[in-house]
Amino acid sequence: MITLRARGVAAAAILATVCAASPAAASGEVNIYSYRQEVLIRPLLDRFEETTGIKVNVVFAKKGMIQRLKAEGVNSPADVVLTVDAARLIRVKEEGLLQPVRSAKLEADIPAQYRDPEGHWFGLSVRARPIMYNTAKVKPADLSTYQDLADPKWKGRICIRSSSNVYNQSLLAAMIAHMGKDKAEAWAKGLVANFARKPQGGDRDQIRAAAAGECDIAIANTYYLAGMIKGKKDSDKAAAAKMKIFWPNQGGTGAHVNVSGAGVTMSSKNKDNAIKLLEFLAGDEAQRLYADKVNEYPVRAGIPVTKVVAGFGEFKADTLRLATLAKHNAEAVRIADRAGWP
Ligand SMILES: [Fe+2]
Repeated sequence: MITLRARGVAAAAILATVCAASPAAASGEVNIYSYRQEVLIRPLLDRFEETTGIKVNVVFAKKGMIQRLKAEGVNSPADVVLTVDAARLIRVKEEGLLQPVRSAKLEADIPAQYRDPEGHWFGLSVRARPIMYNTAKVKPADLSTYQDLADPKWKGRICIRSSSNVYNQSLLAAMIAHMGKDKAEAWAKGLVANFARKPQGGDRDQIRAAAAGECDIAIANTYYLAGMIKGKKDSDKAAAAKMKIFWPNQGGTGAHVNVSGAGVTMSSKNKDNAIKLLEFLAGDEAQRLYADKVNEYPVRAGIPVTKVVAGFGEFKADTLRLATLAKHNAEAVRIADRAGWP
């Protein structure tokens, strides 16, 4: 079973970083501004086009998406925003760039915890952020909760990326939601004191470092480990083989989860088709594709995951509403600063 939560938010403006020209607002076509790489989502969009005859254009806008939408205003050709982490989706909503959508299908298909109560955004795939350990260095019996990672017994043994990354901001926001901000800050300080090194690189780099013995534990999203196992790089396959997933907090709040998701823009000229696209992405076929192509978890039970992901084991996911969690983002960033988490 699955559940989740999260947060994020990039920074920086710079419209110039947005690549590709604006797609024309041709009638009926759906234009996506995507934080996700087109290579990841294209197989799903191809199936949508084949099934419905509705063409989908994607602008990959990893940085500067919000600035671009704001600058374009009501003239923006964008119909749909597609991104990862509920915190980013909420930021787009808070900027007034999304419109509420009512869809019986979306509301039936997507559990309430994974979507905005007002319909501004919908989670479409679930990502989990558990503990990963080097099997030569750590016994699973020594692991228990995220909270326990602040214990001095882990001194110099933990690898995790920078707190400027939204995944860690969301993890910390979840700790605030569960423990209150004072305890969450004490936890963050303890965690930082146990870092094996100054945070560097992305999630994959933490897994590689733990496999190489630079640390014993990595905190990372599961699809990165799955990608290493299924990928073409022998060194990554070898590294992944040294690592195992430990699902923390299984006797309590559950493992930290988040979503990738989408919302319909305020400026959408093709709202009906935009909603059809969201409904397709939440449907059975697309949910299976998310599992197959991206190694994420479906947003609802009953959709099979890939063999590699199934091998990570079943887990209890946190049931926090992601919309609630994201409210703690700003506090999470302040706490990370005070804790000295770069
Ligand atoms: Fe990621």
